[in-house]
Amino acid sequence: MPNSRISAAVVGGTQELGWAVTAQVIAEGCRALVIPAPGAYPEQGEPHPENTNEKERRRMTVRFGLLGAGRIGKVHARAISGNKGAQLTAVADAVADAASAIAEAQGCAVRTIEEIEAAADIDAVVICTPTDTHADLIERFSRAGKAIFCEKPIDLDYDRVKACLRVVEETDATFMVGFNRRFDPHFSAVRAAINEGRIGDVEMVQIVSRDPGPPPAQYIGSSGGILRDMTIHDFDMARFLLGEEPDTVFATASVLVDPEIGKLGDHDSASVVLTTPSGKHCTISNSRRATYGYDQRIEVHGSKGAISAENQRPVSIEIATNTGYTKPPLHDFFMTRYTEAYAAEMAAFVAAISEGKPASPSGQDGLRALALADAAYLSIEQGRAVKVSEVLG
Ligand SMILES: NC(=O)c1ccc[n+]([C@@H]2O[C@H](COP(=O)([O-])OP(=O)(O)OC[C@H]3O[C@@H](n4cnc5c(N)ncnc54)[C@H](O)[C@@H]3O)[C@@H](O)[C@H]2O)c1
Repeated sequence: MPNSRISAAVVGGTQELGWAVTAQVIAEGCRALVIPAPGAYPEQGEPHPENTNEKERRRMTVRFGLLGAGRIGKVHARAISGNKGAQLTAVADAVADAASAIAEAQGCAVRTIEEIEAAADIDAVVICTPTDTHADLIERFSRAGKAIFCEKPIDLDYDRVKACLRVVEETDATFMVGFNRRFDPHFSAVRAAINEGRIGDVEMVQIVSRDPGPPPAQYIGSSGGILRDMTIHDFDMARFLLGEEPDTVFATASVLVDPEIGKLGDHDSASVVLTTPSGKHCTISNSRRATYGYDQRIEVHGSKGAISAENQRPVSIEIATNTGYTKPPLHDFFMTRYTEAYAAEMAAFVAAISEGKPASPSGQDGLRALALADAAYLSIEQGRAVKVSEVLG
């Protein structure tokens, strides 16, 4: 079943066919993926259609304001417009042309952030502005009575996140953090198989997450560094799959891709080992450069077996000739690789609002992932394994 979904995907990407034959080609095979049954994850799933009240609630349309019309703003605009229970009412951006482009594409209004904050016809906002604006916007929109979906990370400072989450709690706002990978059908199938006991007890997790190329210098400058910007997704995925909170972090990071990234005080290559109190561990491999596309793989090893989620491609074929086996390129980046995940993530947020239930991943998930990033930076600085308790405020 998953293969049919993959082959139906839109063909995209900037790489050209004619890729080099490599030894990596052999690994795909026909591995059986487990697609979670509907309702397997109530916190992420749709309301149960047999429940009449749920049916009533599903008729409610959640009216959205989008804050930030950049790379991820465009992705969420499409996810909102593609959701039957949602409507994109307005978009705001500091750059007028960026907002207009989304407004024209999705048929919504351009407004200022202040207008969206005061609007009676907006129920929820999606925060896609740069990271250093998130915490202030979360507080403002919590106080304005809106439901809030905020892109990761919530903020770069642990205490600032805690203060911000206190406002969310006091105002009882529905709040969700954008850890989209939990909603990827392949990664959520890995967790479903773990939950079903298919591989016994989880012992070791390996996460490979490498971008095709670095973001612009301007983005790097306000990103908080590779561990808070990029690895934060993997910290969340490690927590999602390990089933036990990591309490120790060892990390190393360097500049191997672009010296300009080093001049900005950041790294472009990182390796992290997380360990839990019972001795389970997770290794994370990150790079801001993968010449072969957007490299996103996971393997979980357990007492009775292992589960892996391999890289996905827009076109899932393999060509065998007398020169060897070749496959088309991987997805070129997150916008195409995680299309289904972004749609499912938005559906979960809309469902949480409609059902009046807490959204997941929560603010606490965002806070815990940031603590792991902080511990990883301390580990790099001091060249030792760091207890997460050392950085918890
Ligand atoms: N979950 C994911 O897969 C994912 C992917 C990419 C980015 N992100 C996160 O999303 C956020 C945005 O990243 P991006 O790559 O879309 O950045 P981007 O630079 O492409 O877009 C940011 C947009 O915000 C606008 N903006 C800046 N300051 C503003 C302000 N004060 N008010 C209104 N608009 C403002 C900019 O003009 C720009 O259009 C970051 O926090 C990043 O970590 C998440």
